Amino acid sequence: MRTIAELEAIARERLDPAHYDYYAGGAGEEATLRANEREFHDRVLVPRVLRAVGKHELAVEIAGSPLSMPILVCPTAFHRLAHPDGELATARATAEAGTVFVCSMASTTAVEDVAKVADVLWFQLYFQSDRKFTEAVLNRAENAGARALVVTVDSAVRGRREREYRNAFHDLPPGLAAENMRDETGRVRDIEMPADLTWEDLDWLREVTNMPMFLKGVVHPEDARRAVAAGIDGIFVSNHGGRQLDGEISSLAALPEIASIVDGRVPLILDGGVRSGADVVKALALGADAVGVGRPVLWGLAAAGQEGVAEVLERLREETDTALALCGARNPGELTADLVR
Ligand SMILES: Cc1cc2nc3c(=O)[nH]c(=O)nc-3n(C[C@H](O)[C@H](O)[C@H](O)COP(=O)(O)O)c2cc1C
Repeated sequence: MRTIAELEAIARERLDPAHYDYYAGGAGEEATLRANEREFHDRVLVPRVLRAVGKHELAVEIAGSPLSMPILVCPTAFHRLAHPDGELATARATAEAGTVFVCSMASTTAVEDVAKVADVLWFQLYFQSDRKFTEAVLNRAENAGARALVVTVDSAVRGRREREYRNAFHDLPPGLAAENMRDETGRVRDIEMPADLTWEDLDWLREVTNMPMFLKGVVHPEDARRAVAAGIDGIFVSNHGGRQLDGEISSLAALPEIASIVDGRVPLILDGGVRSGADVVKALALGADAVGVGRPVLWGLAAAGQEGVAEVLERLREETDTALALCGARNPGELTADLVR
């Protein structure tokens, strides 16, 4: 089984350099992008011993969805830039791994088609000012079988990604489109960043969908407090993989304070910089109920399609399984903050 770094190297060779940069890059000087990974390296595990971990397990349940391991696939745009099978390949490998695939609003495969091959499917939304259109997209996702809604709230405007300017990467190649953005006439709309989105709009969203609702992109503890008060069903502690606000706190650094405020009332998912099983264990110990992975999945997809994604997920599963047991835990719930320094 290849490492994630090896798969990234293959992906880099295979991809058009502008597309590689689109996946790999972050906002500004990419300080937050780097900080996401560095924060994991800067913290070490202090394992416990003699704890009879012969029988241990990784499965968790998040907002009614079963996950065979505390790792899910984050929403990322445009999988067909990575591989012709695109989101279908990713969703198949994720289903095989028994975990959640979060379909992006910017998917190059329609959510209905993704749902046919996915096992546990969630849907990510960029709220559109045309509420009728937003409601229609949510209905499409819910009717297709999506079990949760992930509302991205860290993208009031698009982050400035220098690599995209440098490469003049603005449009998808001919034949590819953001298939969830088709309106009733069949025209594909541009995705609007939700600049005017407020807490009141979230109330409206809750009225028009029955799916449990997650907020994605919360790092300020007061926003986490408010989300719980507003009846939100879960939070992604995330800075969008360093692609939005450069100079923003790394997601792992933001986690402990949020975990302390939320105090188990809603599930927390951490994403950004998770590259190994030890990373997964550190995030769980510091208060996450599960982690999300973005780029590693894209590297697997670009390197080897469905097989490559399966490789990434199985490697993370095996590493997490080993790290959990070596920390003296029998399940993710037994990982506690004292195991991390
Ligand atoms: C190429 C790319 C596209 C992304 N597209 C979306 C998206 O459409 N919607 C969204 O909410 N987040 C999107 N994200 C952010 C991811 O969901 C996630 O927060 C991030 O990738 C996690 O960091 P990691 O890549 O270090 O694992 C994207 C990330 C990347 C790398």
